[in-house]
Amino acid sequence: MKVTIFGTGYVGLVTGACLAEMGNHVVCVDIDAGKVERLKKGEIPIYEPGLEPIVKRNHASGQLDFTTDPAPGIAHGQVVFIAVGTPPDEDGSADLKYVLSVARTIGEHIDRYTVVVNKSTVPVGTADRVRDAIAGELAKRGVAIEFDVVSNPEFLKEGDAVEDCLRPDRIIIGSSSERAIGVLRKLYAPFNRNHDRTVVMDERSAELTKYAANAMLATKISFMNEIANIAERVGADVELVRQGIGSDPRIGYAFIYPGAGYGGSCFPKDVQALERTARGVGYSARLLGAVESVNHDQKTKLFELIQRHFGGQIAGKTIALWGLAFKPNTDDMREASSRHLMEALWKAGAKVRAFDPEASHETHRIYGDRDDLVLCESAYQALDGADVLAIVTEWKAFRSPDFARIRDMLAEPAVFDGRNLYDPVAVEEAGLAYYGIGRGRSL
Ligand code: UGA
Repeated sequence: MKVTIFGTGYVGLVTGACLAEMGNHVVCVDIDAGKVERLKKGEIPIYEPGLEPIVKRNHASGQLDFTTDPAPGIAHGQVVFIAVGTPPDEDGSADLKYVLSVARTIGEHIDRYTVVVNKSTVPVGTADRVRDAIAGELAKRGVAIEFDVVSNPEFLKEGDAVEDCLRPDRIIIGSSSERAIGVLRKLYAPFNRNHDRTVVMDERSAELTKYAANAMLATKISFMNEIANIAERVGADVELVRQGIGSDPRIGYAFIYPGAGYGGSCFPKDVQALERTARGVGYSARLLGAVESVNHDQKTKLFELIQRHFGGQIAGKTIALWGLAFKPNTDDMREASSRHLMEALWKAGAKVRAFDPEASHETHRIYGDRDDLVLCESAYQALDGADVLAIVTEWKAFRSPDFARIRDMLAEPAVFDGRNLYDPVAVEEAGLAYYGIGRGRSL
């Protein structure tokens, strides 16, 4: 099939590359000329495992192309995806200016039946607004061209995005048009392994499904962080509690890892946006507010533990930091817990020596050169001249370190384990103080 995708961000680029991989002809349109040029050379703007080879291969074979020009892009696609950003505006609602601007552009250019697909995470009711925007442009042109707008949210996880896209666990098609549903069923047919994974529903339910999924996952995390905070105070170990409850299949082991709070471009933004949506229709979403507030506090947790360890005297201390990205296998620093920790440490007069396998470049882009931040080439280099070690991101490379070496390198051997990676007893036996999240047993 011929497919056009507006937006070469995370979602657009991964979706485009995977659709091309399945044999479709895909044209990606982006207003950023520099980015389009780099993509044409096979340079991928984000770190995402497995993405580069499929972009390069499909670009070389002519299945995947990039352009800044919307007109040929729209002329190309029977299906046109909108996968541009929806940043939060001042009050936390999703800002639809990019989505609606693409919708108007589509309305200016389509010349035959087109299926327009909303892939961006958008508030309930956006499919109607996109439909109105396109219809408005068609009316201005004085033409009657048929089109359908479908809500087809994505469920990609950064770091696993290619895998999630090629092997989805569900494909949500939100549409009331049989014709559009038929087109998308055909497009997604190769992604159905073993059984049909498509779930067809109306547009609004599809839009809400996306928010409900992310809000549910964020709720699981905040719930577990709350249990961790209770565990710490009652002398229990949340890691044992986690295993104890995860074994119940109704609860499950996934997404109940306590830690230094959730970050990224999705959970914080989507929980807030859903709360605003609810408020806008006269409902106070109390649970969502609590999920957000627990997460907000959790992001200061490591700082508080470090501060307590030093009796409030952090000025002049040097903290080694392992992990900067908001989670492993990405270089994304959006809403990363490491940022909250570093900024609090700097404010208190401490220095940071940090290492991350992928996110140093992005950290430098955000913070620039500063005396209180040294970006290191290796995990152990970060320990050089540091007082204590804090772990914020659970990269595999940090999972089984040499604790004796860490002890010897740190001035005041202590580990602040923001992702509960280590066995407190093993760390303490190696001669280091151990602080985890909700591990009252070891305090
Ligand atoms: C999330 C969802 O998992 C995807 O399904 C969704 O498609 C995506 O948002 C989106 O809306 O685009 P992502 O933000 O890439 O994906 O990252 P996650 O793996 O969900 O992790 C989010 C945050 O939660 C990370 O900071 C992670 O450290 C934290 N987390 C995750 C925990 O603190 N505990 C857990 O048990 C799991």
